Amino acid sequence: MIQLASVSKTFQSGRGKVRALIDISFPIEAGTFTALIGKSGSGKSTLLNCIGGLEPPDTGNIACFGTPIYSLGPRELSLFQRRYMGFVFQRGNLLSYLTVAENIGFPLTLNRVLGRSQAKRIDELLDRIGLASAATALPHELSSGETQRVAIARAIAHSPSILLADEPTANLDTVTGQQAVELMRDLGKDHGCTIIMATHDIEITGSADAVICLKDGRIHEEER
Ligand SMILES: Nc1ncnc2c1ncn2[C@@H]1O[C@H](COP(=O)(O)OP(=O)(O)OP(=O)(O)O)[C@@H](O)[C@H]1O
Ligand SMILES: [Mg+2]
Repeated sequence: MIQLASVSKTFQSGRGKVRALIDISFPIEAGTFTALIGKSGSGKSTLLNCIGGLEPPDTGNIACFGTPIYSLGPRELSLFQRRYMGFVFQRGNLLSYLTVAENIGFPLTLNRVLGRSQAKRIDELLDRIGLASAATALPHELSSGETQRVAIARAIAHSPSILLADEPTANLDTVTGQQAVELMRDLGKDHGCTIIMATHDIEITGSADAVICLKDGRIHEEER
């Protein structure tokens, strides 16, 4: 389970002080799918980055499966992220100089899943995303839907406990976007992954276990 307690984050920028998150508290049950919605600028990405250990909140605590992640040292935090977290961004963010198979294998290498076990896992994922024939393709040779499927496979390759996705369907048409979300949920289900996804897509929220709506950095509505 993921527990947020009184999380606040203020940015100091050219526009002055921006209170991106204000006193956010909520629990997320393990193995569930939570959709994070709200207008542009409401704080969705900031919240995901806080949960992912990428953006320390100014105040408050975030515990992931009992570990208060911001009490960890930098090395422990990066080990925790590497082992237990997966990230999917708006644009696949694949490593452009690595093939599709190598991109998927990347988190496995980081987690020392090597050799035959790595190859086996890559093949299994390539099959699941329907891209077995594209193993040796480079990212620039893929469509946006294919790129996102590879990004999802990469994010989930090492069976993370938490998958954080920041508008992963924003660059896709409705059908391709739906398929990407289904793929994410399917692959996540295999090992009980907890998925948190920021989205503007109302269709996606319909199938979520919980929907959290942010407004100006606060929780505006919460549905479970
Ligand atoms: N690194 C930063 N420096 C300064 N201000 C920031 C930074 N990151 C976010 N903000 C501000 O914090 C607020 C919340 O931003 P955030 O990116 O979390 O919104 P969002 O809900 O993800 O929006 P979108 O739907 O457009 O992606 C915004 O007002 C934004 O300008
Ligand atoms: Mg955002």
